[in-house]
Amino acid sequence: MNTPLAHTPPMGWNSWNTFGWNINEELIRTTADFFIESGLKDAGYEYIVIDDCWSEKQRDENGRLVADKNKFPNGIKPVADYIHSKGLKFGMYSCAGTHTCAGYPGSFEHEFVDAETFAEWGVDYLKYDYCYKPKSADGENLYKRMGMALRNCGRDILFSACNWGADNVHSWIRESGANMFRSTGDIQDNWFSVKNIVDSQLGKQAYGGVYCHNDMDMLIVGMHGNGDNTEVLGSLPGGCTDTEYKTHFALWAIMNSPLMIGCDVRKMSSEAKEILTNRDIIAINQDIEVRGPYCIRQWNNPENVFALIKPLSGGDYAIGMFNFSDKKSEMSLQFFDIGLPAASGRGLELYDCYSHSVIGTFTERYAAQIESHDCVMFRAKVVKL
Ligand code: GLA
Repeated sequence: MNTPLAHTPPMGWNSWNTFGWNINEELIRTTADFFIESGLKDAGYEYIVIDDCWSEKQRDENGRLVADKNKFPNGIKPVADYIHSKGLKFGMYSCAGTHTCAGYPGSFEHEFVDAETFAEWGVDYLKYDYCYKPKSADGENLYKRMGMALRNCGRDILFSACNWGADNVHSWIRESGANMFRSTGDIQDNWFSVKNIVDSQLGKQAYGGVYCHNDMDMLIVGMHGNGDNTEVLGSLPGGCTDTEYKTHFALWAIMNSPLMIGCDVRKMSSEAKEILTNRDIIAINQDIEVRGPYCIRQWNNPENVFALIKPLSGGDYAIGMFNFSDKKSEMSLQFFDIGLPAASGRGLELYDCYSHSVIGTFTERYAAQIESHDCVMFRAKVVKL
């Protein structure tokens, strides 16, 4: 019997952004070890996902997928067992088309046998891509097929759809049984990419929610332009400042995206670790009600400066303020606009998610001076004055 999966946005790590084709058993094992040692598991990160390029180029004589004999000489099951022995969960990758994006066998017309294989190996999560979909095939139907196959394979396997926002995916993906769905093209390790993804997804918050989350793609926090995958990942020089990574993480968190780390966690800087394990930011992302935020833009700089307000369970509100412009700017939030008129005799007690302390109680408005590409994030409590 299936357990409902992904009530809140899934959290974990995926091999693609940094390693691309260059993956193997050792990488996955040492990443799992590091999840424990570094506190990532304690912070809530759970899934370790192998992306594309893990298999042989041909299926076996029974039509089953086979792990690459050099990268995974012992097959996949021992890798899954190892990850499970650490109290973590294990994810893999396939594709709705005839081939994966990197040219390995896809699951088209093999959906049920592949779901069975993944279940036998102990897989807990399947990312399902969209390359090489036969032109005559209906993509929506293909996600429904794999959704049905996974729901009936005898194991709880989280279904992570990845069709890059094509075919108005947000309007039908929940019906397929998917637990998360990529809504954009591939993220790149630069600020423009972060900004473009956010701009394209603001206003689509209502489509995400419990059990089926809008996946704004893997995190680039801590990549700093490193990775065997830069050629695929981006045409611009790679890397963001730590401020930009901080803002990227805050946005993914408050916009309820899954939080799938994409850097080499074994080598991450202390700054990246601090960003990725910020318990107050993660708590906003993992709030049990999974309500999307709404956006209020700064009247005299609406393109670049805005606030996101997300109701949390228990009466608090997450408030994020973001400055996308290239100079320091003000964001002034009028409490009237979020439902708190002065006549209510109430104000907001603001808890700063970066200093981890209350900065004061404010009435009528709060105006923040925000550095370029920076943000502020609060948990706000409505208090009687
Ligand atoms: C697509 C996906 C990426 C990654 C690659 C693998 O581009 O969007 O996230 O899985 O395929 O080839």
